[in-house]
This record gives sequence, C-alpha cells and structure tokens, in this order.
Amino acid sequence: METKLVVVDNETPDAGIIAEAGRILRAGGLVAFPTETVYGLGGDALNPDSSKKIYAAKGRPSDNPLIVHIAEMEALRAICAEIPEEMVQLAEAFWPGPLTMIVPKTDLVPKETTGGLDTVAIRMPDHPAALALIRAAGGYIAAPSANASGRPSPTLAGHVMEDLQGRIEMILDGGEVGIGVESTIVDLTGDVPTILRPGYVTEEMLKRVLGEVQTDPTLMQKVEGGRPKAPGMRYRHYAPKGTMSIVEGETTEVIARINALTDEAAAQGKKTGVLCTEESIAQYRADVVRSLGSRSEMQSIALHLYRALREFDDEGVETIYAESFSRDGFGQAVMNRMLKAAGYTVIQA
Ligand code: TXA
Ligand code: MG
Repeated sequence: METKLVVVDNETPDAGIIAEAGRILRAGGLVAFPTETVYGLGGDALNPDSSKKIYAAKGRPSDNPLIVHIAEMEALRAICAEIPEEMVQLAEAFWPGPLTMIVPKTDLVPKETTGGLDTVAIRMPDHPAALALIRAAGGYIAAPSANASGRPSPTLAGHVMEDLQGRIEMILDGGEVGIGVESTIVDLTGDVPTILRPGYVTEEMLKRVLGEVQTDPTLMQKVEGGRPKAPGMRYRHYAPKGTMSIVEGETTEVIARINALTDEAAAQGKKTGVLCTEESIAQYRADVVRSLGSRSEMQSIALHLYRALREFDDEGVETIYAESFSRDGFGQAVMNRMLKAAGYTVIQA
C-alpha cells in the first residue's frame, strides 16, 4: 500500500483534504493525524475491523485498548454506559485538551477497540484539524499514538513515516506537535478518580476540580508484583534501542558522573549518548549529545524528549546517560516516560 503524505493546516484545515481523509476512515482505512499531544493512528472506533487493522499496523498486542477521540460532548451518550458527574466537570475544565477519561462503555463500542474491556477511554483533542477529521469520520476515531509498538511516540509526521509507511493509507502532516507527551489518563470507574498515566494535565489540576484524586503507585517506580492499571503502561514502551540510565543529584556532580560513566562505556567500545539541557550541553563529551531545551522550561523538555530518543536510535547509540528532572507538576509526566525508557535505572551522582 502506498501511504499518502499530505500537509494540513492545523488551525484551518483544507476542507477537501479533511473530506478525503474522512472517506478513508469511513471505508475502514487508517489515517495518521496530528493532535496537540502526539500524532495518532486513526481508524473508525465503531468498526471492529478498523481496530484490528490498527493493532496490525503498529504491531501492538490486541489486549492493549485504544483511546476513542470525539469532537462534541453529545457524542458521549452513545458510547458511555454512564456519564459520571466527574466526567462532566473535568470535560468542562479540560476539554478539548490533553485529558483522557475512562468510563463504562455501551455495546456500540466493539471489544476490538477496548482490548476486550467493558470500559472505554475517551478524549476530545484540542486541535482544530483533528476535530474536523473526527467529524468527517462520523464522530468517533480510535487512535493510539502513531508509532510502531515499542518505539517512542511520534511528535513529527516524519516519525510516523519512519514507523508506518506502506502500512496505512494516509498521514496528515501538521508539523511538530505542541505538547510532545501523551494525554493524562484518569480512570473514573472506581471509588476515587485515579491517574493511570501522567500528562500535561497534572494531579493538582485535577484535584482543583474534583477534590480527591489518586495516582497509580506503579507509575514512578518499579513495584514488585505491581501491575499498572492501564494495560499500555505495562509494556516496555518508549524504549530506545540503547541502554539508558538516569543520573540524579546536584548539577555539577551529575555532569562529572555522566562524563565518567561515558568515558567508561567508550573505553568498552560502546557508542555513547547524553540527554541533557541547554545549561549543561557544552560540558559533555559523549559521541551524541542532545539538549532537550532549557531546564527552566519543562514544556520544551517534554516536547523534545521522544525526538531525542529516536535520534539516539538513528545514530546507533548503545549506552545513554540522561540528566534527571523535577517530578513536580508536568515534570511527573516527563520523568514517568524517562523512567520507563530507562527501565527504572537511576544512578545517584
Ligand atoms: O495523547 C494521547 O492520548 C494520544 C493521542 C493520539 O491522543 N494517544 C495515545 O494512545 O497515547 P495510546 O494507545 O498510545 O495510549 C493509550 C493508553 C494505553 O496505555 C492503554 O492501555 C490505555 O490508554 N487505555 C485505553 N483504554 C483503556 C481502558 N479502558 N482502561 C485502562 N486503560 C486504557
Ligand atoms: Mg502509545
């Protein structure tokens, strides 16, 4: 299959392009598209065959449920068996936006889309082109991140091409995304709303609306026998091909320790990489050194993380050392992804 790559304006998308992409989705085909978080791999969420195709294209285990993307609040009634009060409050505060909510599903949503679960994850993206596409597709697009399973999520259309070219009908290229890590996922099916994946919408932001909110304890550390509740968080996701370690501590000590570790790895014949910041980049001597931006701007760090991990892969880096970041606020989402990429290996400087 030839994959058609089409540039789209994020704010005022061309109606002809959206109509063509919508036709592909209605016919059961797959279209990758930009959102404010990462690129999504879209299929008709109500068509079981489309969901099967999504799993096949990504090489993703089919017990890992997909997120259903909607464009209007009215779309909820047909797919939610219950619309809890918390959902309405959170939608008012954060939709359209980088928040996914899990609620019990109706029979309209096929099990293929939810990985066999009776619940469904739903998000309304804050992205005019994505919203136009959802409407053109009939109102419900199932979309995981548009990466091959096991690779970092795509923040550029070029990343989608790398992973999925020849496997899907179309890619809408809206340039670099805005946020760069996937949406916050909150499970509303239990007694206390629970964050299953941290994102741009933080625990404090959710608490301001709901009062009580908890975070799945397996997200920031390796828990013996613990299993994250979001099936997707169990897989070794976001993993670079090289071995990654995070080095924590006071800045000058971190830099000295990373340089010492890099020298050791180089002496063993390894190709080395360092993940750092604008403030420290000049002080490293690894083969490949990548800055994520200024340490004072967590948004820049988040936006450039996946791209940097892909670049290490492209360069064939075998041993990666990364600076660490604050786990406060949005930093929790960034460190969650970095810890997973590093298999939770943290070295004290
Ligand atoms: O920002 C995002 O959320 C992006 C863009 C494209 O919207 N999408 C995305 O989808 O990150 P994906 O498939 O890569 O991640 C979805 C996560 C997985 O970890 C999955 O296990 C979890 O959501 N999930 C989906 N439905 C669930 C459910 N019913 N119960 C528990 N976890 C669920
Ligand atoms: Mg993903």
